[in-house]
Order: sequence, then structure tokens, then C-alpha cells
Amino acid sequence: MKANVEDSFRKRSLGPPRDRPNRLRCCQRKHHCPLTLAVLDLLPFSTMSNAVQHDLTFPKSWCRRHLLDLESLSAEEISTLLDIAQQLKEMTQGCRHKISLLAGKTCANLFFENSTRTRNSFSLAAKRLGADTVEFSSVGSSVAKGETFVDTAKTIEAMGVEWVVTRHGTPGTPHLLSRELDCCVLNAGDGPHGHPTQGLLDMLTIKQHRGDIRGLTVALVGDIAHSRTARSNIWGLSKLGAHVIICGPPTLVSPRWSELGFEVAHHLDDILPRCDVLNLLRIQFERQRARPFPSVHEYAALYAMNGARMRKAKDDILIMAPGPINRGVEITPEVADGPHSVILEQVNNGIAVRMAALWLLSGANDRVKANPKSSPAD
Ligand code: CP
Repeated sequence: MKANVEDSFRKRSLGPPRDRPNRLRCCQRKHHCPLTLAVLDLLPFSTMSNAVQHDLTFPKSWCRRHLLDLESLSAEEISTLLDIAQQLKEMTQGCRHKISLLAGKTCANLFFENSTRTRNSFSLAAKRLGADTVEFSSVGSSVAKGETFVDTAKTIEAMGVEWVVTRHGTPGTPHLLSRELDCCVLNAGDGPHGHPTQGLLDMLTIKQHRGDIRGLTVALVGDIAHSRTARSNIWGLSKLGAHVIICGPPTLVSPRWSELGFEVAHHLDDILPRCDVLNLLRIQFERQRARPFPSVHEYAALYAMNGARMRKAKDDILIMAPGPINRGVEITPEVADGPHSVILEQVNNGIAVRMAALWLLSGANDRVKANPKSSPAD
């Protein structure tokens, strides 16, 4: 699998399936014509003409049923998620077409905080793999009648779901659910603590552009104190061998990060010429209880990525942002929409890493169901 994956990252086409154990085969259409695709969608896989077969090997070493954070994952597990995401992206022609890897299973989105990217991306990831989805929103639900978070999740699980994807303002809520539910639990953001699929999609985007993360200098800039994206990137990138710089105002970047071996900086202009990647984090006004800097204008003057700063950066710098972006605060429109920006590629890669997570967790869960005495690494 490794050779195939390395080829994939270099944007070559996958070769024909080889004889390997544990193989799942899927079909991918060569044609882009919507009419052709519509016709092919009506045909059983075996009768499809012009269809390319790909195989996806379930990694024997994968045994996690939940994706709660990146801190507890090994470098090998993170690499497996990224490799499978890349393969699924190609098998679904850029996350656009449907295959039936997970047909018959249901994914429930339990969101107690707002979301555009993560919620729709999980939903599309499930659908691209043939699964059904249930969309729960706390607004308009029985939470208003006093039902607890855990009872709500258990109620949705009892409807027969394979995965619960949860976003909540309180750190640790997915970890709590993983102890209460039998289905797979995925963290879609728990307060300022973690956002593992965001970290994975950021790393997948870097890998697609640079091939390898090891040795790159990646700066996370902005509101580190309130950013779950920052935490997931910090753990994920450092495990894969990047040099991580944590940059922002002293009120939003604890000096104690340096005790864990990370470089801390308070002046973007000082570190900019060394950076291969900048990930510009949103100022999370909704999570701040005290004003962490004198004014938005001052923050933008010191930390916003703008045209003048781009001229001091490396020629091939990657500009990333998890979104939503505050235009003119962390990033100016000319940079957000400019040639170095990969912000919308990140969004597309979100579907790929979520497809990978759903498939891997479900495979581990199937193993536990087949052999309840086995002990999965949750
Ligand atoms: N990046 C991210 O989590 O965006 P949403 O809040 O729109 O899901």
C-alpha cells in the first residue's frame, strides 16, 4: 500500500489492483460527463464499462473505534489516516463521486455549536461512501425540554447509527460519549481543546503540496489560547516531524508551550522569512472573556498576513486558514484569494479525511462486533 500511496501524493494515477489480502474493491468512473455518470449510477458495479477498479486495504494495525484528538494518536496512525484519505479522494474523483464502501450504515451529526465546513463535510463524507446521515441540531430539539447531552446522544444511537459526530463548547464531551456509547464517536470540535479532523485536513493539504511534512517550518499564528485547531495542528505536525512555531500576542500565546519543546514567537515579522507554511487562526471573539489586545486594528497591524508581508515570505509559502476567516483581521483579501492560498483546497480535503476516519473507525468497530472479547484501543 505504501508505494501506491506515495505515488498518489505525487498526483500520479493509481495502478491496477494487485493481489493482496484483506482487500476491498471499489469502482471509480473515468468519465466526467454528468450524463454518463447518471447512467453508470444505475448499473451494478460488475457491468460498468470504462470503470477503473481500485483496492483499499484495511490496515491490520488500525484498532481505534473513536477519533477524539490527535494528541493520543501515534505518528503511524496519523499517517494511516492521511494515506487512506488520499486514496479515498482519488477513488471518489476529488471527493465528488459516490462509492458504496459504507452503504447501509448511518452517521449522526450532533452539533451543539455552529458550523458550516465541518458539519457539511462530515455529512458529504458519509454520503460519498454510500452511508445515510441524520442531522441533529440542539435548536428545536428536546434539549430545550431538559434532556441531557448524554441522553440525547444515547437516544440518537438507539436509532441504529454507526457513528456519532459531535461538536460541543465543553472540552472532553466526545471523550465522555466514547465511554457511554457503543458506536464510534468522532470529535468535530470540543471547545478550545481539539478538532482532530481539522488538523488532519491541514496536514493532508501540506502533504499534497510538499510531499513530506518532516523538516518543514509551520507557524500557527493568532488566537492560540482559544483555538482547538491550533492544538490539533500542534500535536499532529510535531508527531510528523515539522518544526512548529506558535506565534501571537503574549495574551493569546502561553510561554509554557516552550516547555513542551515548541518555539514561541510574538512577532510575525521576525519568523516570517523562515516559514514554509503559515496557518492563520481566527480570533475567537465568542470565546474571549477579556479583551486580549488593545484593538482589532492593532492586531491586524502586527499579525495580519497582507501583501507587504507576502513580499518578505518564501516564494513558495503556503497560506492556510481553517476558516471561517475574518477578512482584514488575520488575513487580507488579496492574500486569502491570492495564488499562495490553499484555503479552499483545505475545505475539499476535509471530505477526504472524514471519509478516511469514518471508514477506519467503522472497520475497527466491525472487528469488535465480530469478536467482542477483543480489546480495541479507543
Ligand atoms: N474550520 C471549522 O471548523 O469551520 P466550521 O466552524 O465552519 O465547521
